[in-house]
Amino acid sequence: MKHALTARWLLLIGSLLPVPALGQDGQLAEGRQLFLSQCGSCHGPFGNGGKGANLAQPRLRRATDDEALQNIIRRGIPGTEMPSSFLAPSQVSSIAAYVRTLGRVEPEEIPGDAARGAELYASLDCQVCHTLDGRGGIVGPPLDDVGTRRSAAYLRESLTQPDASVPRGFVQLTVVTQDGREFTGVRVNEDGFSVQFRDLSGALHSFWKDELQTLEKNFQRSPMESYESRLSPEQLDDVVAYLVTLGGGE
Ligand code: HEC
Ligand code: HEC
Repeated sequence: MKHALTARWLLLIGSLLPVPALGQDGQLAEGRQLFLSQCGSCHGPFGNGGKGANLAQPRLRRATDDEALQNIIRRGIPGTEMPSSFLAPSQVSSIAAYVRTLGRVEPEEIPGDAARGAELYASLDCQVCHTLDGRGGIVGPPLDDVGTRRSAAYLRESLTQPDASVPRGFVQLTVVTQDGREFTGVRVNEDGFSVQFRDLSGALHSFWKDELQTLEKNFQRSPMESYESRLSPEQLDDVVAYLVTLGGGE
């Protein structure tokens, strides 16, 4: 017990002293440990995979410098799935130091041809549901900066197993009205008395709840169908390569 406490104090003292006291290697080791436990679930253990943005690249879109990076780690990014944290300032700087080393690795090798992917995107039905460059439907999330928000692995999964990666806050509804009509759509708004949703054509529907026979909510269902059987493996690579470029301008 006493030993554990002492160790903690030593760590605290170590983190209050200028960086060389903990040693740069020590700081990076601490940063790596914290990254694995606090960030790895979304950004992947190497920072390059998962629900969160790919951090293993030389330039980050939002974390443009050290101050911005530390602010993001502390406060999160409001309105996105990037959460704020309760870390000590020294832990924040350790994680930031570690995140900066991630960018020094070779950029992720993405098979596929982005130009061919762009053509495929235009020829498939993606635009029925997604907005890109101000054009397209609004049932799905806009894809303008999806390449910076998500990793290649996540984007691939969005195409092959849409139900596996439904973004937070996204709810698909199926309602049956008292007079027997059925509608399916994506929830826009709901309170105790009413519900609003968009159907797949983008049309907005609004009902009082007492007009409905049933209101079914599905948090794990996506109206997007898998493209795994509709695209060849090469075509899938091409579309992923294209999506990765969106927002990054590379
Ligand atoms: C619940 C999932 C989740 C967790 C946990 C998480 N992040 Fe994020 N993070 C995201 C998402 C999603 C984004 C992209 C947000 C956006 O721009 O829409 C993001 C964005 C970022 C960015 C901005 C990247 C850029 O392009 O500038 C940084 C830096 C970052 N996260 C670092 C971290 C660190 C460090 C941790 C751990 C302390 C962490 N994140 C924990 C989901 C997460
Ligand atoms: C019937 C409507 C529909 C069609 C068609 C459709 N999508 Fe989606 N897509 C959605 C919805 C709704 C979501 C959000 C729920 C989810 O993750 O499945 C989504 C999610 C995504 C995501 C994840 C976005 C994020 O931020 O998590 C990507 C990437 C994506 N779609 C790309 C595509 C591409 C590329 C095509 C065409 C090959 C396509 N979609 C066709 C409705 C659609």
